[in-house]
Amino acid sequence: SPSLWWDGAIVSIREVIAKTGIDPAEIAGVGLTGQMHGLVLLDGEGNVLRPSILWNDQRTAAQCDEIRARLGKARLIELTGNDALTGFTAPKILWVRDNEPEVYARVRHILLPKDYVRYQLTGKPGMDVADGAGTILIDLRTRSWSADVLDALGIPHEWLPPLYEGPEITGHITAAAAAATGLKEGTPIMAGGGDQAAQAVGVGAVREGIIALTLGTSGVVFGSVDKPFFEPEGRLHAFCHSAPATWHLMGVMLAAAGSLSWLKEQVFPTQSFDDLTRSAKAAPAGSDGLFFLPYLTGERTPHADPLARGGFIGLTARHGQAHMVRAVLEGVGFALRDSYELVARHFPSEQATELRITGGGARSQLWNQVIADILNTPLTTLRVEEGAAYGAALLGGVAAGVWSSLEEATAETIHPGPVVQPSKDRTLYEDRYALYRQLYPALRETFHRLGS
Ligand code: XUL
Repeated sequence: SPSLWWDGAIVSIREVIAKTGIDPAEIAGVGLTGQMHGLVLLDGEGNVLRPSILWNDQRTAAQCDEIRARLGKARLIELTGNDALTGFTAPKILWVRDNEPEVYARVRHILLPKDYVRYQLTGKPGMDVADGAGTILIDLRTRSWSADVLDALGIPHEWLPPLYEGPEITGHITAAAAAATGLKEGTPIMAGGGDQAAQAVGVGAVREGIIALTLGTSGVVFGSVDKPFFEPEGRLHAFCHSAPATWHLMGVMLAAAGSLSWLKEQVFPTQSFDDLTRSAKAAPAGSDGLFFLPYLTGERTPHADPLARGGFIGLTARHGQAHMVRAVLEGVGFALRDSYELVARHFPSEQATELRITGGGARSQLWNQVIADILNTPLTTLRVEEGAAYGAALLGGVAAGVWSSLEEATAETIHPGPVVQPSKDRTLYEDRYALYRQLYPALRETFHRLGS
């Protein structure tokens, strides 16, 4: 619930102030980041109307069809850079219209998750363009709300908040928010960005040439571009970046480290993540012919299929825990390669491209090695653990004038760590990737019959 996020934000802000011992009067500003695409609906008094519908929710297939029918898929992509995918915000708005008309009738404000926290901090609605683009209600070229899309979907323009670039001030801490959080009244609140754009800032991917790979619950391959990007088929997401006058293209798999969490929780609940990844070392590269399809919550890139399902394929009596865990690490690697191939082809020379990996899963050396082998590309590791929060802080710092630009901020603060080179296993993985690519097309119809 959005109200719980605000309670959580109060606790977190108080903890940070207490742990760092920093004097709130010295805080130059606060940058915000959070999960993208989640729908937060408020009434005219700012009350939350229903629980948020989150980024990975898949209920909106019918509304995605309606959006495509109203605008035409080609025109939708031409305006917003994206096809209508179930996780995006616009179809969720239409889902509430269709299924909860009494809630829809009371809507006066539409926000994203972190912007609800902003609203509580500043008393004002506001959103950054990077997160805003993930609603697919933004005109990608002009970085403003698209009247064409809003009108086609019948969404009143006044429900949407003012838009800001990532390093801009959106408001100031109110007296009530100061009393709740311990921050000083009047402290500026900066726009920040959705988690993927802020994460990219946090690893220094603010210009062409650095691709950010995030191994979090979701798995993301993110490349910055200096002009709006339109892929005719809409297989990649194309959003505004948190860096001004910069855009990005992005492949997203829904269950990356989320697949390993599922395996741990449902199959090996008494073991830690370290136990699991340690056990995987006993299995050879290729897991003795065992594959894992990571589509546990449907998939976005490249299949855009909410009905896709996961599975172990090729199990034999020879396989045990080590193979199952290794197959999960490899399955996620193959799915990331699907996105990487789509993203990397848009950069002129692969040699000039550096791939930086972060996220909870990147703490595993084995997983980093498996991914470097499957992508057949060196991976630069970074010591940043909370990339998105770090990026939000850098955006805040630029807005506050601590640095003159994001380039300066990232050059000064981000220090790449060791590089993981592809090993001899890359040849075997090349062969296995070709087999992996046959699995989803072979099973698609089965998944759809199961899902219906
Ligand atoms: C990006 C996306 C996820 C969420 C949750 O498109 O859906 O990264 O923001 O982290």
